[in-house]
Amino acid sequence: MDRIKVFAPASVANVACGFDTVGFALNFPGDTITVQKTEGTGLSIAKITGDQGKLSLNPTENTVTVAAQSLLDHLGYTGGISIEIEKGLPIGSGLGSSAASAVAGAFAINELLGSPLKKADLLPFALDGEALASKARHADNVAPCLLGGFIFVRDHASHDFFSLPTPPDLYAAIAMPEVVVLTADARAVLPREVPLGSAITQWSNLGALVGAMFLSDYGLIGRSLQDVIIEPARAALIPHFDKVKAAALSTGALGCSISGAGPAVFALCKGKATAEAVAQAMGNAFRQHDVPSFELISPINGEGVKVVGE
Ligand code: HSE
Repeated sequence: MDRIKVFAPASVANVACGFDTVGFALNFPGDTITVQKTEGTGLSIAKITGDQGKLSLNPTENTVTVAAQSLLDHLGYTGGISIEIEKGLPIGSGLGSSAASAVAGAFAINELLGSPLKKADLLPFALDGEALASKARHADNVAPCLLGGFIFVRDHASHDFFSLPTPPDLYAAIAMPEVVVLTADARAVLPREVPLGSAITQWSNLGALVGAMFLSDYGLIGRSLQDVIIEPARAALIPHFDKVKAAALSTGALGCSISGAGPAVFALCKGKATAEAVAQAMGNAFRQHDVPSFELISPINGEGVKVVGE
């Protein structure tokens, strides 16, 4: 095979109570990249679209190619490969944009070279790409983007993670306000120490969320989607977050919190119709306060990154 096109989906990290620990994949939006074998040696970026000129064409400075090169180094492949990148995910949205690029890069190379590694084993290479953008090796976006579904990451350094079952009627509603929140800023506002009482509440909710996924218990999912540590510190970075969250909950969302480092806000809902109403309510709450917003809903994506063409 000389050419292949792959799609890597958006993801929601943290899921309220699981900061740096839990994430799930959406069906869309996502990044699409095409890789093609060429004459000569080494990786090159032929074209980037959809990034408003923000991303580098230098392979050592782009998340896609850093992940791709990491895998190529591991495999010892030095042939020429040209890459085209279609950024479908807004950068800095809170929907795992850099993770999608990194996952797409590693997965596309693996497919192009005949799938020498299993999908799950691509995680460290994708994390090398993610680390370029986020300066951290968090797998809570990368792992669900790679494998789909809900992923629980017990330990990032040893890549110790597992998939959680997903109740069939679970939908995500997303509202993306047109504001910029840099992940570095969103991490800088976090408390360095946590009171024991807050820690107990947080790990109670996280344990219950994991149990609720196995039990398909929508009520318990809703009761568990509470973040007493990270969300209170970050809420001020998202204009009118409290009103958006209140709108989601009063419209029937199981729970609502910040998607990753924000500014996107997510809600989990039982059923597609509820998710549509909740997404609309969240977007309206932003707009009522003069904050433009884009909304979408998605079931939980059970597949992760995939081949979409040649
Ligand atoms: N868990 C990360 C955070 C996701 O919330 O900062 C964004 O990289």
